[in-house]
Formats: sequence, structure tokens, C-alpha cells
Amino acid sequence: MQTGHDAFGFSSQQLDEELPGNIILPITVISVGQLASQISLPVGRSMQVSDSIAIELRDVVKQFGDVVAVDHVSLQIRDGEFFSLLGPSGCGKTSSLRMIAGFELPTAGSILIHGREMGITPPHLRPVNTVFQSYALFPHMTVAQNVAFGLEMRKTPKAEIGRRVKEALELVRLSGLEDRRPRQLSGGQQQRVALARALINHPEVLLLDEPLGALDQKLRKEMQLELKSLQARVGITFVFVTHDQEEALTMSDRIAVMNKGKILQVGTPTEIYERPNCRFVADFIGETNFIDGVVVGRDGHYTVLETPEGLRFRGLATRPLPDHTPVTYSIRPEKVRLLSPDGELPADGLAGTVMTVNYIGSDTRITVRINDRRTIDVWEQNTRSTLDRNEYWQPGEAAVIVCPPDNALVLSE
Ligand SMILES: Nc1ncnc2c1ncn2[C@@H]1O[C@H](COP(=O)(O)OP(=O)(O)O)[C@@H](O)[C@H]1O
Ligand SMILES: [Mg+2]
Repeated sequence: MQTGHDAFGFSSQQLDEELPGNIILPITVISVGQLASQISLPVGRSMQVSDSIAIELRDVVKQFGDVVAVDHVSLQIRDGEFFSLLGPSGCGKTSSLRMIAGFELPTAGSILIHGREMGITPPHLRPVNTVFQSYALFPHMTVAQNVAFGLEMRKTPKAEIGRRVKEALELVRLSGLEDRRPRQLSGGQQQRVALARALINHPEVLLLDEPLGALDQKLRKEMQLELKSLQARVGITFVFVTHDQEEALTMSDRIAVMNKGKILQVGTPTEIYERPNCRFVADFIGETNFIDGVVVGRDGHYTVLETPEGLRFRGLATRPLPDHTPVTYSIRPEKVRLLSPDGELPADGLAGTVMTVNYIGSDTRITVRINDRRTIDVWEQNTRSTLDRNEYWQPGEAAVIVCPPDNALVLSE
């Protein structure tokens, strides 16, 4: 790994090497409502997302030898925004974050924080703090000492340090654990210490690199809501890195979806899920049915495509596409309706046969064969409580699928 220096003047290499093992102790779970009532605000910034730009990347490239980790990325993150970088492992999320923090310098392009060109400004002179997945706590120091460390280094007066440590620990609801050492804390509590240590500096921007990655699923979900509520209360801009699409959808004001060093789409969670702009984004976020075909014309504001075996589908395209353009039709399984065959086919209906039926509690997942080479997945919510298997579709049953064109996309790349 590359060695850089964080705001405390310690190299990230040193910090990573000093990592304690994760010891999971039982913890008390407090609801978000309770948490909110416990928070005192150390910083009086607005919780609103404003129009002013906190961070801007202009045509940023990062190369490590032959590897292009970040490939001409341009991006604007607004003040007060909860912004996520989302993408598969190796797509360049950490590299992007480390350049914003100043641990790495761009090979080309520039980074601005609050309009100020960062150039070669070292990490400790940037108005940002980073929370690493590994927490990077000092094992030999107590919680209070870990949190106070940055202020101690800057020779902040004792009384002020004491006051700010108290505030920061209240903010992440760790009051009372001041004298514990990291190994005496659960994973979630260690994570909170790392957060408190970053928040005590009152940064304008907090950079978080997969901060919940080491937590088990249940705690992770808890911390997602807590982190979101914390961010709303303190009003700091959060830049949050994750490879978990559900996490990004849950937490973010906006998401940038990355793949192979490039940003493919930036949008709100609903924009990213409901209107993915390409096949990769549609595939990476949630589940979807894909059908390849070519454009054969338009019908009102819908684009019509035809599959090699002559099936036609209508959907929304992000731009006008000439005939013969190769495209992928995409419809989410929960948007497809499944009906009993009843005389004439409805508009956008196709006759098929139910192949498999999987009851998973909240919904039932049905695969329907529509011809000898194609199946469509349909998810039906189990809105009624019943134990009667006959209430559900049966394998072998004839059925009609309906693909509403307003819920279907025609993707051209
Ligand atoms: N210090 C480095 N030296 C060489 N290659 C690196 C270094 N850091 C990252 N890379 C490469 O850059 C690409 C992007 O990595 P990274 O930004 O860590 O991705 P992510 O955080 O999305 O998983 C990967 O191919 C990775 O192997
Ligand atoms: Mg990473």
C-alpha cells in the first residue's frame, strides 16, 4: 500500500499496522430516535444540502504504473450532502477518496475543496478527515486518548480538549467508555471511536472508506441509520465509499456509480435504481431482467425493440435511438405483472408458463418461460397472509406476463 500522512501526522501505513484485532462484545442497541435525543451539536452548520460545491474533481486521473485506477473523473459534491461512491472492488473508489484526502496526488486533473485548488496540499492542511474501514485506533491508548490525539498534537489547551472529547463521545454515544481500550470494545464501538476522532476536528468534509465493512449484518444496518442521522444533525458533507448497493441506496443523497476507474452515472437513489443509464448500472444496482434486441421504431414516447426471435417490447430510452441500434431491454422483476390467461392478450402482454416458484416470505419469486430460449423473473409481494399453497402460482401453470412500458428501459450500452 501507499504511505500517506493523515491529519494527525501519522502515516497511514503505521496506522494500519497498529490495528488491533476485532473483538466483538455484546452491545446495547439504541434506536435512532433515542440516539437523536442524546446528540448535542458540536458544530452549528445547517443540515440542508446547499447549492454550493464542497468538493470538485476536474478530469482527475490516477495511474499506478500501468494501472489506471481513476480514469478522467469529474464530479461535484455539494455542501452538506451525503454522497456515496459505489462500485465493485477495484473500480477506483479508495483511490478517489485518498486523492481528496491528500494521501495520493492525481496523475492529472485537479481537486478543489470549497473552491480552493488543493494542488499538493498535504492531508493535515485540508479541511477533511478520513475514517478508515480498519478504524486505525491506537491499541495502547484509551478511548478518550484516541479521540483527543489530534488535538493533543496541535497543542490545544487541556480544558478545550476535555470539552471537545466529551462532545464527540456524546455525539457517537460512547459516553462512559472514556477509559476503555480498543480491545475492550465491540466492533461497532471501535467504529464509533474512529468517528469521534474524526468529528472532534470539526472537519468540513468527512471521508469514509467502507467504514461499516467490518461489522456484522445487523450492526451494519443499525450503524447505517445512525451514521445517516448523525450526518443530518451535524450537517457535515460526507463522502462515503461502499461496494454495497443497498447501503448506498439507504444512506445517500446522491450516488456516483463507478466501474473500471470511470463514473458511469451520478444521481439520487431513485434515479439510479429507476433510471439506470446503462447496462452496468442496471445490473449492479438491484436485480433486473435483460433482453437483447435491436430498435425497430418508436411508439409515442416509447422506443420499440425486437428480439432475434421476433418478440417486441416497448420501454423508455434516455435518448432517441435510430432503427437497428443494438439495445438491451431492462425491466425489474417487481415491475412485471403476472396474470391468469383470460382470452385476449393485454397490451405489452406475453403468454408463458410458470417454471419455478420461490416463496421467500416478503415476496414470491416466479420464473416464467416465454419461449424455448427465454425466461422472465417476476416478484410478487405477499400482501395477504395465507398458508394455502394454492394461493400462489404453481409450476407448470399457464400465465401471462405484462411489462408496463413506463417501468421498462431501453439501454443502448
Ligand atoms: N498503491 C497502489 N499501487 C498499485 N496499484 C494500486 C494501488 N492502489 C490501488 N491500485 C489499483 O488501482 C485500482 C483501483 O483500486 P482502489 O481505488 O483501491 O479500488 P476500490 O477502492 O474501488 O476497491 C485497482 O486495480 C488496484 O489494484
Ligand atoms: Mg477500496
